[in-house]
Amino acid sequence: MSFPITRFRRLRASDGIRGLVRENRIHSADLIYPLFATYGQGIKRPVGAMPGVYNFSIDMLLEEIKEVVELGIPAVILFGVPEIKDASGSGAYAEEGIVQQAVRAIKRSYPDLLVVTDVCLCEYTDHGHCGIIQNGRILNDPTLELLARTAVSHARAGADIVAPSDMMDGRVAAIRRSLDDSGYCHIPIMAYSAKYASAYYGPFREAAGSAPQFGDRKTYQMDPANALEAIRETALDIEEGADIVMVKPALAYMDIIRRVKDEFPYPLAAYNVSGEYSMVKAAAEKGWIDEKKIVLETLTGLKRAGADIIITYHAKDAARWLKEG
Ligand code: PBG
Ligand code: ZN
Repeated sequence: MSFPITRFRRLRASDGIRGLVRENRIHSADLIYPLFATYGQGIKRPVGAMPGVYNFSIDMLLEEIKEVVELGIPAVILFGVPEIKDASGSGAYAEEGIVQQAVRAIKRSYPDLLVVTDVCLCEYTDHGHCGIIQNGRILNDPTLELLARTAVSHARAGADIVAPSDMMDGRVAAIRRSLDDSGYCHIPIMAYSAKYASAYYGPFREAAGSAPQFGDRKTYQMDPANALEAIRETALDIEEGADIVMVKPALAYMDIIRRVKDEFPYPLAAYNVSGEYSMVKAAAEKGWIDEKKIVLETLTGLKRAGADIIITYHAKDAARWLKEG
């Protein structure tokens, strides 16, 4: 008997055999591409810290979506960059709000593309917080009604899935009830369940113009040090009617992705956020890393960690690379 008996390298000997024993694969069908819709015409405004990401007026957005569809990406998640902001974020739930208009335009041209809408107020409030304010405090319960109105208006515009990202307590229940009462019991909720107060959202806030004008989001988003709390947050969202749950950000929270996946038999989305994207793009621009290999390894890692769905700004590139094989 020769030593060693167990030789793992037998199954690593060629592309073919590695493929046969591969445990996890990333598919274009797993991806959701985030897009920023803004007012005006002919606008494709680059986001400084996110090369390849833009604010699109609706006409230009449709051209971008054409590419997304051709690449076989099944879904987009929409964020709005409105013309006017106010204290109560009324642009979020206006019938002619930017996201509502964008959804209608997209569904008219691409009825089979899944349109997910981010439900929050921060892009629409002049103070940049995800809820309404009184005496410098972010009010929970009065915010719920506005979030529910936002979700219903998105559904009315034709959104396929609504995704509350505000982190107010009780929002999933409030949104579920309003959707059901308004004839949208068939619209799923993808809840940002374990959403941390993260510095990784920095570039997004530039893209969406949604940075808080005072303070931070630590009174509603989760403390990055907590893991058990993510389980409780997710359990409550499911109890309140979430159909898909989410962990956000992704890379510094891969342990949370795994724990949530092990704990709950529900579809799980991971949000590979703006700061994660910016770091890869910056290093790639400097020639310090191989962007394609890094991105595909990262996305595969997120699937291995337990994500079923990945929301990523790399989606178009990844879909292209996956097609190339
Ligand atoms: C809105 C929202 C944010 C993100 C998604 N929805 C920003 C925030 O909470 O400040 C972050 C997405 C990203 O960084 O890519 N609440
Ligand atoms: Zn918000």
